Amino acid sequence: MRRFMALTLASVFALSISACGSTEKTESESADTPAAEESAEANTDPVLNVYSSRHYDVDKKLYDMFTEETGIKLNVVEGKAPELIERLTREKAAPEADVFLTVGAESIWQLNEEGILGDYTSETVEKNIPEHYRGTGWMGVASRARVIAYVKDQVDPSTITSYADLTKPEWKGQVLARSSESGYNQALLASFVSIDGVEKATEWAQGVTDNFGREPKGNDRDQAKAAVAGEGKLAIMNSYYWALMDKSSDPEEKKVAEQIGLIFPENTHLNLSYAGIIKDAKHAENAVKLMEFLSGDKAQTLIAEENGEFPLNPETTVPEPQKSWLGFKAQELDFNELGKHISDATKIFGEVGWK
Ligand code: FE2
Repeated sequence: MRRFMALTLASVFALSISACGSTEKTESESADTPAAEESAEANTDPVLNVYSSRHYDVDKKLYDMFTEETGIKLNVVEGKAPELIERLTREKAAPEADVFLTVGAESIWQLNEEGILGDYTSETVEKNIPEHYRGTGWMGVASRARVIAYVKDQVDPSTITSYADLTKPEWKGQVLARSSESGYNQALLASFVSIDGVEKATEWAQGVTDNFGREPKGNDRDQAKAAVAGEGKLAIMNSYYWALMDKSSDPEEKKVAEQIGLIFPENTHLNLSYAGIIKDAKHAENAVKLMEFLSGDKAQTLIAEENGEFPLNPETTVPEPQKSWLGFKAQELDFNELGKHISDATKIFGEVGWK
């Protein structure tokens, strides 16, 4: 089984930065092992090239903290995930990037199909991040839940316990969601395809579309704003946006958060922020260090506190408001495989008319 294997810094120098899947290239080797063609490729310059599709203020702080701790300077290229994946694919023969930071576990499958991720490993990462949130060359950094937001003075939250409840006739004209072009919605529907099959997933998407209060538009926060403005009573949104609105410097956003509650339905869908190490990365050793740093308590705490995401390191204290949401049961999903169902999901969205 291909997985995130143990790797020590002593062995990293001799690390084969080419193929993945080999399970015996790590701890038994040391920097003294003659492995000329391998170590010739290793590069210990104190730099790291990162492609990131994350769009958060906290990331700049994380980068600065990492540079301060390690002396490794980060060159960060920001862009939308599909564009960066396209670029990673194009550069596969001679990769420029060492690390890909992104949101949405659905792209893991695609990266693996393209052979973009390497097979780098770290005992520290294995210790910090539960196995379920790691795979060959990637590890989850944080999670957020895609949940049901409701207008507090108009909905009794105990009446809604599942995503399927959004399709009930009593919510006709009351459901708000962003467009089906959103990766968040595609991943949500792909997860239903993976768990319940195409037919049930189609029924769900049809039922939600039939209940829309308006045509899908805007981002997740706009759904909460529209609900408070009376355009609907229920909205699909990611939990961390509520946290960000609640601590927003914009008083209007704060006011919206106050009027909105979140329901974590049975088998809550989690969306991952994750980091992957690129196969044949020039700065593989530094890339492993970044993974270790991001999985550590200090980075996990900062991400949880400032970005409202759930930390994945079980040792990290979960801050409010996330702490108040704990106790929900997440979907049982294989994050390596989720992306397989994206094409079905986009097809279904087209069929049911979810714009
Ligand atoms: Fe987002």
